[in-house]
Amino acid sequence: MQQMEQSQSPKRKITIGTDTTDADTLQCSIEDSGPGVAQMHMNRLFESFFTTKDNGIGMGVPICRSITDAHDGCIAC
Ligand SMILES: Nc1ncnc2c1ncn2[C@@H]1O[C@H](COP(=O)(O)OP(=O)(O)O)[C@@H](O)[C@H]1O
Ligand SMILES: [Mg+2]
Repeated sequence: MQQMEQSQSPKRKITIGTDTTDADTLQCSIEDSGPGVAQMHMNRLFESFFTTKDNGIGMGVPICRSITDAHDGCIAC
């Protein structure tokens, strides 16, 4: 939501989807209509304190990974 606001995206939409790839696996996808992650930042996305925002902290994405790890899951895998 912050990325869409910051980039002044005319259309602001978040799409959340779920799928069961097999009986033991739940797959969740979250897509936004913002600018996306720049290719040059992809390899740093999960790094603690990495941020491109003036007032960012850089903990949101790493925390998402620690939550999925704690549930034997994975993110962006
Ligand atoms: N949905 C997104 N769209 C585009 N870039 C994103 C998105 N989510 C995260 N990012 C990029 O990853 C960086 C780190 O995100 P995050 O860990 O949530 O920290 P913060 O929000 O404090 O910057 C952001 O600064 C931004 O560059
Ligand atoms: Mg964030």
